[in-house]
Amino acid sequence: MDIDLSLVGMEKGQQYETIITTLDKEGNLNTAPIGVICKNKKEVLCRIFEGSNTLANIRNQRNFIINITLDPILFTLATIGNIPSEYFNIDLDNNLNSGFKTKSFKTDNSKIKSFKADNSKIKSFKADNSKINTKIPTLKNVDAYLICEVLDIKEAVKKSDPIRKSRAGLISSKVVEIVLNKDYVNAPNRGFYSLIESLVNFTRINFVEEDKQKYFLDRFVESKRIINKVGSKKDKEAINLLKKALENRGYNI
Ligand SMILES: Cc1cc2nc3c(=O)[nH]c(=O)nc-3n(C[C@H](O)[C@H](O)[C@H](O)COP(=O)(O)O)c2cc1C
Repeated sequence: MDIDLSLVGMEKGQQYETIITTLDKEGNLNTAPIGVICKNKKEVLCRIFEGSNTLANIRNQRNFIINITLDPILFTLATIGNIPSEYFNIDLDNNLNSGFKTKSFKTDNSKIKSFKADNSKIKSFKADNSKINTKIPTLKNVDAYLICEVLDIKEAVKKSDPIRKSRAGLISSKVVEIVLNKDYVNAPNRGFYSLIESLVNFTRINFVEEDKQKYFLDRFVESKRIINKVGSKKDKEAINLLKKALENRGYNI
């Protein structure tokens, strides 16, 4: 079977939350949570802010790994710093230096070392014409990972971002290998979680004080924005149903 991102639950046009692992020029590993858009069955898009290590490493190395996981600890460690080396399939006898660096990442150019997933790996799908040999170590216990090769990087300024209007790199990549560590893999999408939060607040809004009601309505507006940006067709349909239900209860949104 060839590359097909539906194997990890990705659908065309949808954004999923992942952890991207990259290497810098010196062989230091970097981990960061990044949203990944499924462009088609074989390609993904990421919009990564200028100034981040991930963007610099992807520009430099032209390959990276997208990890699919629902593990809250991995996401948190990747957000507040870097995921420590013990979470990786790193050969500890292989001169592991400080941090993530191993000598083989720097010096072993001729014979590329490949770090395989642990024994839980059940299936791997490679693109037919794949020549890529990444040196990036893999994370243990992720549900799946995608080895990606950059096709193109464009400059982009995202004006609609609620946080900042900064320059970013729009990275278009092809997936050259999909490794599944589980039978059933579903990449997380913020739309569904936002919908669940909105539903919970809906069940509570009639029982709280006015200022808390306002807080719930503000949260609803933000959840609707997220769902419209990254949610599935059904998430969007669902949040519109909920909007009508709130309006029927007399709330102004
Ligand atoms: C769930 C989640 C998704 C994120 N998605 C993106 C993204 O798509 N693009 C981006 O530039 N930053 C994104 N971030 C923020 C980066 O992870 C953050 O800026 C990080 O510090 C970058 O680390 P780095 O400098 O090691 O690359 C996201 C953060 C979280 C928690």
